[in-house]
Amino acid sequence: MRVLLVCLAGLLVCLKTADSHSLPQKDYDTDSSNHDITNPLYDTSGNNSSSDPDNSRGMFDFGPTTFLVHYVTRDDNKEYKSIYAHKNGKAKKVLEDGIAVFDEFPKSRAYLGNKDGIYIYDTETEKLEKYGNLSDSVIGIVKENRTDDLYILTEDHVVYKVTEEGTKKIKVNEAEHAERIALDWDDNLYYIGANDHPYVVASDGAKKIEGLPANPTSVFICRPPIKIKHGAWFMSGKQPYIIYPNATSKPYVYNDQEKLEHEKRIRDLDVIFSQFRNQIEE
Ligand SMILES: *[C@@H]1O[C@H](CO)[C@@H](O)[C@H](O)[C@H]1NC(C)=O
Ligand SMILES: *[C@@H]1O[C@H](CO)[C@@H](O)[C@H](O)[C@H]1NC(C)=O
Ligand SMILES: *[C@@H]1O[C@H](CO)[C@@H](O)[C@H](O)[C@H]1NC(C)=O
Ligand SMILES: *[C@@H]1O[C@H](CO)[C@@H](O)[C@H](O)[C@H]1NC(C)=O
Ligand SMILES: *[C@@H]1O[C@H](CO)[C@@H](O)[C@H](O)[C@H]1NC(C)=O
Repeated sequence: MRVLLVCLAGLLVCLKTADSHSLPQKDYDTDSSNHDITNPLYDTSGNNSSSDPDNSRGMFDFGPTTFLVHYVTRDDNKEYKSIYAHKNGKAKKVLEDGIAVFDEFPKSRAYLGNKDGIYIYDTETEKLEKYGNLSDSVIGIVKENRTDDLYILTEDHVVYKVTEEGTKKIKVNEAEHAERIALDWDDNLYYIGANDHPYVVASDGAKKIEGLPANPTSVFICRPPIKIKHGAWFMSGKQPYIIYPNATSKPYVYNDQEKLEHEKRIRDLDVIFSQFRNQIEE
């Protein structure tokens, strides 16, 4: 069976779809009838944000642009990926062979990675530019909050810190075979290892995060919503956790308001996703 995936990246949604047709007639297939959204979700409305950004945006904080990573598996089983930006009901392909997205919302800048290196995409002007001169095949990208330094995860599962405007990289030796990377608001680095377990990178090496299920499933890691000042967000299945730089963790429980926002975001994403599907099938 062909398995197709569409990811709403940037901050996080992964949609996995199993295809029911055996002979693909089209280049694209994004059947989402069976999708599963497994992430912290962000309010897109932005409606009252000028008056009181902290309170009106709520738990989740999403810009008008949503990034999607579109995976296409063809007959030869090779996977083709590209990054789309969805804004005002329209999806636009912005980068071929790309999968890594870091959306710096509320700034209009997003960092994208593909098999040739790092790019910057401006979500307002919709311009794409190469960033720096590295040419690694990038599958994960995050930016520090307090500096312009980045971390990238390359296709061979190595993590590098990228400094000097994308012209210099330093290997992060502590992170072994990372599958995904994330920073928290204090710029601590976390990664998910080959065993699906999260680690925090400390000065004296990587530490396994304690207090999590022994066999996490459908794992995901990212910077948490802004109201969570310390620690990173980790999902195992549908259960979110906050994981801390001291290698502890605790399950996160949504309050009623957050639950509503979460449900609203899922509905919004359904709309975005069906618009996306319709447009790329045209
Ligand atoms: C803001 O709210 C108004 C009315 O409540 C609504 O019509 C509009 O679509 C909203 N804007 C966004 C960006 O959600
Ligand atoms: C904006 O504020 C109004 C009035 O306070 C509220 O009813 C509405 O739900 C808010 N909209 C958003 C998107 O937060
Ligand atoms: C992000 O960095 C800015 C600038 O240093 C700082 O003021 C802000 O508190 C940081 N954000 C968070 C959520 O820590
Ligand atoms: C990138 O540019 C920097 C500074 O100009 C230079 O030192 C470095 O060798 C270049 N790296 C590559 C991979 O071209
Ligand atoms: C680890 O950090 C968290 C968050 O700062 C804190 O609540 C907790 O008490 C700390 N645990 C230990 C064992 O230091």
